[in-house]
Amino acid sequence: MPFFNYRARTTSLNLLVLACIYFVHSFAEPPRFEHLTKGDGSLSFLVIGDWGRRGFYNQTLVAYQMGKVAEKLNIDFVISTGDNFYDNGLEGVDDPTFEDSFTKIYTAKGLQKQWYSILGNHDYRGNVEAQLSPSISMIDARWLCRRSFLVNTEMADIFFVDTTPFVEKYFADDEHNYNWQGVLPRRKYIAETLEALESGLRDSSAKWKMVVGHHAIRSAGFHGETEELIQLLLPILKANNVDFYMNGHDHCLEHISSLDSPIQYLTSGGGSKAWRGDTKHEHYHDGMKFFYDGQGFMSVELTQAEAQIMFYNVYGDVLHRWKTSKEFHSAV
Ligand SMILES: *[C@@H]1O[C@H](CO)[C@@H](O)[C@H](O)[C@H]1NC(C)=O
Repeated sequence: MPFFNYRARTTSLNLLVLACIYFVHSFAEPPRFEHLTKGDGSLSFLVIGDWGRRGFYNQTLVAYQMGKVAEKLNIDFVISTGDNFYDNGLEGVDDPTFEDSFTKIYTAKGLQKQWYSILGNHDYRGNVEAQLSPSISMIDARWLCRRSFLVNTEMADIFFVDTTPFVEKYFADDEHNYNWQGVLPRRKYIAETLEALESGLRDSSAKWKMVVGHHAIRSAGFHGETEELIQLLLPILKANNVDFYMNGHDHCLEHISSLDSPIQYLTSGGGSKAWRGDTKHEHYHDGMKFFYDGQGFMSVELTQAEAQIMFYNVYGDVLHRWKTSKEFHSAV
């Protein structure tokens, strides 16, 4: 039993005890959170990325529409694909940016759910430990951010992967300060991250398998594809029947279908500043189903037999809708 289990909504004392168990057990095993879903066996959540700008750049408008959709779909949780706080993450646990860009923005009733967040490259320019710390969840109990972890629901396993350390160029970036504490030595960190993902996916018997990272594998946006992830991460996703890879980083909304596997590449990075306009047309794939370089977010609805994704703009209009189904044998 490589992982330890605990409910997402737990007390800080429990967290402390479990943190100790985690420490004793191993550094390499990512934490695993069990999320109980609605009684009807369905699961729904929103995905948002690249957002924390104190409400500016339409962040507030996106938040308002997220609230409406969240209530309509009765979502179970929200996923943040990273770049949570611009420009340089958080300075510390008491940085007012946390409340100004998160608590005071996502105020809608429907969004008072657990948020599962990973770090983006901008978050690495600040105090990384602050975002990961259980004490920041005392300020807003919805917040849960880890480097790499697994959210385990009845029908879907969602693996969160810390992709920033994979990207070579940040380690040769003289213009910005990155906080690599806990990441170095880098090769070991990457190897352990991949190993944990691979064994987690192999052990997963969930109907739907999803992986979340900050950086895109496939994208026609400003940043485009991430070569390191194509080389190191993608083979693992392909070998383990992953259904969705979800990311941010490119400030747009996009859906690309893989032509050689079932993987759907879903970018949701439109949480605030967008409209870069400069798309990389050489990265347009035959599998490109949808691309929008403005603000917005994505919803995912799952049952044992079906998955539906939708993308929305700042007015709440559905820009793209896509559905897939799997054979479903009920246990008689
Ligand atoms: C806000 O959204 C509207 C509608 O999509 C867009 O026209 C406008 O440029 C956006 N504003 C900013 C600051 O991005």
